[in-house]
Order: sequence, then structure tokens, then C-alpha cells
Amino acid sequence: NLTAVIMAGGKGERFWPKSRTRLPKQFLNISGQKSMIQQTTERLSKLLDISRIFVVTNEMYAELIRIQIPHLPKENLIIEPVGRDTAPCVGLAALIIEQKYPDSIMVVLPSDHIIDKKDQFIDIIETAARKAQSGPFLVTLGITPTYPETGYGYIESSLEVEEHQEIEIHRVKQFVEKPDKETAESYVQKGHFFWNSGIFIWRTAVIRSYIQQLMPEVHEVLQSMKIAISEGNKSTASIVQAEFKRMPSQSIDYGIMEKAPHIFVIPYDHGWDDVGSWTALERINDTDENGNVMKGNHILSVDTKRCIIEGNGKLIATLGIEDLIVIDTEDVTLICTKEKAQDIKSLLKELRNQK
Ligand code: GDD
Ligand code: MG
Repeated sequence: NLTAVIMAGGKGERFWPKSRTRLPKQFLNISGQKSMIQQTTERLSKLLDISRIFVVTNEMYAELIRIQIPHLPKENLIIEPVGRDTAPCVGLAALIIEQKYPDSIMVVLPSDHIIDKKDQFIDIIETAARKAQSGPFLVTLGITPTYPETGYGYIESSLEVEEHQEIEIHRVKQFVEKPDKETAESYVQKGHFFWNSGIFIWRTAVIRSYIQQLMPEVHEVLQSMKIAISEGNKSTASIVQAEFKRMPSQSIDYGIMEKAPHIFVIPYDHGWDDVGSWTALERINDTDENGNVMKGNHILSVDTKRCIIEGNGKLIATLGIEDLIVIDTEDVTLICTKEKAQDIKSLLKELRNQK
């Protein structure tokens, strides 16, 4: 009774200018030969049949998904007319899955992560699914934090382990989405905190009921869609098209995970990276003897340290620089300090204001 939902509507802005509104990072080959969403789908193939995989995305990316995942059944592509962040996305997926596979467990996954060890991943998801099956529980995979990242959610786990199995399950005391730097630092030091991986496992009925309790505005829109679907006059797609805009914009992390009781975390330390911003390239690629990551073949660098440089054919020459990101694309060249890599969104905002 397992199903999977891949959330693929994000704009991947922190990977600008390679990731563009029309072609965000989940559709790019950032590591390996396939795009990140193709890798996500393949990773699931050992766990369930493609007929049980659902992809939720924005209208703008529907065609990209049809091209990149051609074997995905047509009715498993859920199209949002506008982006309303991940809570409405998850709620809508739960509603649609309920119709086709009543009483199922859904594994919710971002479309743009790197996972190294596929077999361990499958084992852990199966353990998580057993936990989710056993009660009104929200299960998430937690990553041991290595630095005070402010772009992640943090999970405080209770020290005692809930289940004495090969794979540990911890009860969650507290979930804090994107804390400030100082708070993140204190969490990393304390030791019993995890990063939220963004991979969730729960029963469709359980998440629906938490949405009803904690996000009544989202629930109200879902119910009205449910009634329209059951009347059977219009297609589900046209109902979503008409009603989804009324959803408030909120992430599942702020809307549900920070507030819900009965959350459990399963540590996952088998190679995870959300490739959240340009600095991720240092973690997923080999660096040269000066700590640089260079992609593309025309790069000449002298006295250059700990830089991330990606070319696009034109020669890039650097001299005497440190800790910079230099990304050249056909129409844009980005030069930015590594420290500011998380703030590229503010640059884009400024760019849009000028247009
Ligand atoms: N369908 C759809 N619609 N998908 C969306 C939308 C939307 O409106 N917004 C985002 N997504 C997709 C993104 O494409 C991505 O795959 C996933 O949902 C997560 O969204 P992000 O925008 O990347 O979230 P985040 O990185 O800020 O934070 C989340 O992930 C972190 C780990 O990577 C949170 O869950 C954090 O708690 C977590 O630590
Ligand atoms: Mg992300």
C-alpha cells in the first residue's frame, strides 16, 4: 500500500543562473548523467511500481516532466495552476491518491536531492512505512548536521530510541524550520538534533487530518475539490485548475511539522545532499589541491583558492581570488562570495524589480 509523491514545483532559485525559472535545478544534470528528478524516480523503482508514483508540479514544468519521465502514467502527473509551496502540494497529492489507492502510505520526496546509497535508502523507507502504518504518526528522515545551515529544518530528537531494531526510530521533541544562525549553531553543538531531509512518510488519512486541524484554510479548499470530484461532472485536472488558486501559500514544515504532535525521525546517514546552493558543489565533487571546484574545460586559474567555477565554453581566467563563486552561462555571469550563496534569491528579487 505504498505510494510516492515527488514534489517538483520549486524554482531552484539558489542555483541561478544555471537553474532558471523555465528550467529549474530538478530538471538539470547537476551530478551524474541524469537529471535530479530522473534520479529520484529511478531510486524509487526498487520500492514501488511507477503506477504508484505521483509527481506534483507547476503548469510551467508539466511538459518537462512528460519528456524526462515518459513512462509516468498521465493521471499521476498532478498539475498546480500556481505554486503555493509544499503544504497545499502535499494536501492535494493526498487527496488524489486517496481516490486511486485508498488507505495508503505516502512517501513524500523532494525532486532535487542526491542520495548515495540506494539500498540503505530503500530499507529505511520500508522501516518508516511500517512506523507510519502503526498510528497517526508523521515520520521524517533526519541527517546528522555538519555545520549550522540556516536553510534547513532542525529536528530535536528525544535521547532514548523508540524501537530496538536495526534501524533506529526516535521520537521528535521539537521541529524548527530554518532557524537563525545562532540557533542553528547551538543545535549543531548540542548533538541530538538532526537536519530535516525533507523526505516524509505518513498515511494519507493521517496527513489529511493534521491539515484539517492545523491548516483549516488548506483543508477547506481540499474538501471543496473532493466534493467536486465525487460529483463526477468535471475532470480532476479541471477542478484543481479552478480551485487550487484559493490555497494559501505555506510550506509543510511551517504549517504542519512545527506544530503537529507524534513526529518520529529516522536517522539517515548514507549520503544525502539537497544541493541547495552553489556551495554544495564542493561537497559532491572532488576539489583540486587548492580546494577549487572547476567545471567546464576552459578555466585558467592562478593563485586561486577554494573557488567554485563553472564555465560555458568561454575561457574563464582567475588570479588571486579566494572563496568566490563564478558561474558563466550563455547570457549571465554570476560572481558571488560563497558566504552569500544562500542570498541569491535577493539578487533575483532586485533583478525582477529592474525589469
Ligand atoms: N509541486 C510543488 N509546488 N513543489 C514545490 C513547491 C510548490 O509550490 N515548492 C517547492 N516545491 C518542491 C521543490 O521543488 C523541492 O523539491 C521541494 O518541494 C522542497 O522545497 P524547497 O523550496 O526546496 O524547500 P527548502 O529546501 O527551502 O526546505 C525544505 O527542504 C529542506 C531540505 O532540503 C524543508 O523541508 C526543510 O525543512 C528541509 O531541511
Ligand atoms: Mg530545497
